[in-house]
Amino acid sequence: MAHSTRTASLTIDGKTYELPIHSPTAGPDVIDITKLYAQAGVFTHDPGFTSTSACDSQITFIDGDKGELMHRGYPIDQLAEKSHYLEVCYLLLYGELPSAAELEKFETTITRHTMIHEQMHNFFRGFRRDAHPMATMVGVVGAMSAFYHDSTDTNDAHQREIASHRLIAKMPTIAAMAYKYSIGQPFVYPRNDLDYASNFLRMCFAVPAEDYVVDPILARAMDRIFTLHADHEQNASTSTVRLASSSGANPFACIAAGIACLWGPAHGGANQACLEMLKEIGSVDRIPEFIARAKDKNDPFRLMGFGHRVYKNFDPRATVMKKSADEVLDLLGVENNPLLQIAKELERIAVQDDYFIEKKLFPNVDFYSGIILEAMGFPTAMFTPIFAVSRTVGWISQWKEQLADPAMKIGRPRQLYMGETLRDYVEIENR
Ligand code: SDX
Repeated sequence: MAHSTRTASLTIDGKTYELPIHSPTAGPDVIDITKLYAQAGVFTHDPGFTSTSACDSQITFIDGDKGELMHRGYPIDQLAEKSHYLEVCYLLLYGELPSAAELEKFETTITRHTMIHEQMHNFFRGFRRDAHPMATMVGVVGAMSAFYHDSTDTNDAHQREIASHRLIAKMPTIAAMAYKYSIGQPFVYPRNDLDYASNFLRMCFAVPAEDYVVDPILARAMDRIFTLHADHEQNASTSTVRLASSSGANPFACIAAGIACLWGPAHGGANQACLEMLKEIGSVDRIPEFIARAKDKNDPFRLMGFGHRVYKNFDPRATVMKKSADEVLDLLGVENNPLLQIAKELERIAVQDDYFIEKKLFPNVDFYSGIILEAMGFPTAMFTPIFAVSRTVGWISQWKEQLADPAMKIGRPRQLYMGETLRDYVEIENR
């Protein structure tokens, strides 16, 4: 971090404290309060971290007002159009676009790590068949620390590298196995002659009874969905991974924690919740009823796939996803998909509604993704696991960045205590 000369003055009970201001390469300045408690004996208070920077980072930047997202400086729409997921993984992990030789070496490394330890297959059988695949993924990914002891030491750079490759490579295999287990079909092993997205599709949809040829249209759509979900600054699940890692927890435990956090419907679970909402709406003439519910303070209903803590404009990923939905459904010959019609009409009405305009609520990444995934043949329960597969590289990149920061300390927030002050124990006969 550049040495700061500017300061912010904070006066409390007549005493003034000078707090350093740090300027970023992009985005708002930050006021450094690291020494505030030691100097002034007060905490700052920001429960949802709406105004709090938790770390330095060089990986991803979001301009919420402009609706812009860039990874290592490259805008998401260019990466979605011109790059592919494993190249974006390399960019997020190492900071630069790879040369042809670097990319080939990286892709070969990932491909060679796609199988999981054969004994891990037993883990799946401990779950009920109707377990949500996210529950299975939390369990199996956490259990990886019990199998891959040679890549759990976070102080060893080589072990960090192996763990990174293993997690990126094995997540599609684990997600596909969770899906196959849930539908009572045999696991399908990865193949080294397929690219990342094609391998995942084949592991999900192939059956031993016949050959499975990956549809290049689906493979391209799958790869683009992976690219669009790869990383997103310090979102809830990434912050969970960083906090878990700050205690020195092993990488598999940290990623399992990230998967658990992503599952929530306010976060990665929104893609499943959004498709279920579109099905509940059922037809365009019921849209006003649901818009009214979303605006009703007494109704907990929210438009799933709408709104964002950072974007106060269109989520650029939603824009790419909407275009991709049209293309994929067209190419799949899905004429006038009713859910896509409902989603487009819902978007059209909502973005013109004063409530949504005033609160700056726009479609986010989860609004259109489910429509594509369902058209590709995935059940809604697989939507968030697919998000988790993609986001693993973001979690891992942020995890590596934090471990490389010499200033890293265990994360340990304080609180505004509003409970009882000191009082003596009362014997039960006196209560
Ligand atoms: C992801 O952080 C990330 O980067 C996440 C993510 C990533 O890539 O990692 O982008 C992925 O999680 C996308 C978001 C997916 N979630 C949803 O689509 C669920 C629906 N959206 C909301 O729950 C909400 O918009 C959040 C959780 C996304 C953001 O919540 P905030 O920033 O805490 O905003 P808020 O709850 O304070 O809402 C501000 C106002 C409130 O009204 P008031 O109290 O000011 O009167 O807007 C309202 C909210 O009631 N509001 C909505 C709404 N979202 C916010 N009203 C109706 N429908 C909605 N979807």
